[in-house]
Amino acid sequence: MRNVQVPLGDRSYTIKVGGGLLPRLGVECAQLQLGRRCAVITDSNVGKKFAKAALKSLSTSGFEPVLITVPAGEKSKRIAVVEQCYDQLAAQRLERKSFIVALGGGVVGDLAGFVAATYLRGIPFVQMPTTLLAQVDSSVGGKTGVNLRAGKNLVGAFYQPQMVLCDLDTLKTLPKREFISGLAEVIKYGVIYDAILFAQLERQLPKLLQRDAATLATVIARCCEIKADVVGQDETESGLRAILNFGHTIGHAIENSSGYGKFLHGEAISIGQVAAAQLSHKLLGLPSGETERIEKLFLQAGLPVKIKLNSARRKKLFAAMRLDKKVSGGEVKFVLAERLGKVVWGQPVPTTLIDGILDGLQ
Ligand SMILES: NC(=O)c1ccc[n+]([C@@H]2O[C@H](COP(=O)([O-])OP(=O)(O)OC[C@H]3O[C@@H](n4cnc5c(N)ncnc54)[C@H](O)[C@@H]3O)[C@@H](O)[C@H]2O)c1
Ligand SMILES: [Zn+2]
Repeated sequence: MRNVQVPLGDRSYTIKVGGGLLPRLGVECAQLQLGRRCAVITDSNVGKKFAKAALKSLSTSGFEPVLITVPAGEKSKRIAVVEQCYDQLAAQRLERKSFIVALGGGVVGDLAGFVAATYLRGIPFVQMPTTLLAQVDSSVGGKTGVNLRAGKNLVGAFYQPQMVLCDLDTLKTLPKREFISGLAEVIKYGVIYDAILFAQLERQLPKLLQRDAATLATVIARCCEIKADVVGQDETESGLRAILNFGHTIGHAIENSSGYGKFLHGEAISIGQVAAAQLSHKLLGLPSGETERIEKLFLQAGLPVKIKLNSARRKKLFAAMRLDKKVSGGEVKFVLAERLGKVVWGQPVPTTLIDGILDGLQ
C-alpha cells in the first residue's frame, strides 16, 4: 500500500492507495477517532457492487452504519438530493461526531462531501473513490458541491475529508469507457507537473489499459502526490491550483455546448488538452515534438483528439467558453505549457487563434 500525505495544517490527511482497502474500511476508520454512527452514501450502481462489503467492514469494527443510495449519474448532484440526504441523516439521528463515507465516483464524492460540509455545520467524512477519475482527482483537494440549472458546480464548499481510501480492486468493475476517460486526468498530471510521469505513461500505457495492479498503484499514487502538492500550496485556488485546469477551458465548453452526457469529462478534456498544447506551441514555444507526443498519448489511450463542429456548434462552444469561470474581463484565459511538465496559468488567448486551432481539429 502507498500512503500520500495532503499537507494542510490541522486539516491534513492521508490518501491510501492499494488493493483490499474496502474490506479494511472499518479498521481504517477506527484509527480516526470518529463517532460510532455513520452513513455510507453511494449510488445505485456502486451500491449494488460494494455497499454490502462497506457496511460489513464498518459493523465488524464496531460502527453503526446506515446506507443512503442515490440514483447513479450527474443528476444526483443537485440540491433536492442534498436535502433528501439531510433528512435521512436526521432521521437516523446522526450527530456532530458521526461521519459520512462517500463510496462512489466523483458524483457521490462531490455530493456526499457537500452534505458532510453542511449537515450540522459540518461532520467528518471519508472518501472511498471507485472511479479512476475520482481516485486521481475529485476525491483529493476538498472541492465539494452540486450543480444548479444555471451551471455545474455553482454551489459548494471547500471541505477536506479525514482520509481517502483508493481501493484498486474497485476499479476492476469500472466500464472501459469510464476508465479511459479517467486516463485523461492521469495524462494531464504528466503534462502539467511531471515529464518523468509522462514518459512513464508512454512506456506503460498498455499495462495501464489492462489495469495491471502494480502499474495502477504507482501511477495513481503519483497523481495523488501531485494533486496533494498543488492543493497544499493553494487550497482555495487563488493561484497555482488553476494549473489543474489545463485543457479544461475548451473541455468544459465542449461538455457544456454539446449537452452534458454526449462526451464524458475525460473525453472532452482530452480534446481540450490537445488544443491547449497546440496553443502552447504557437504562444509559448512548446516544442512541436512535445505537442505531438501529447496528442499521440491521448490517441493511444483511446481518447478523442478531434471534434467536428459546424458553425452553429462552434458559436455555442465560444459562448460556453465566455461563460466559464475562467473568463475575466471578457478575455478567455488558458493554462498553457512551456514544455512537458511545466505550465503557466492565466494566459489570455485571442479568440481568432482558438478558432484557427479548432479548424485544425476537425
Ligand atoms: N471535486 C473535484 O475536485 C472534482 C474534480 C473532477 C471532477 N469532479 C466531478 O466528478 C464528477 C464525475 O465523476 P466520475 O467521472 O467519477 O463520474 P460518476 O461518479 O458519475 O461515475 C461514473 C459512472 O461509473 C459508475 N461507477 C462508479 N464506480 C464504479 C465501479 N467501481 N464499478 C462500476 N461502475 C462504477 C457510476 O455509478 C457512474 O455510472 C462530475 O460531477 C465532476 O464535476 C469533481
Ligand atoms: Zn477534470
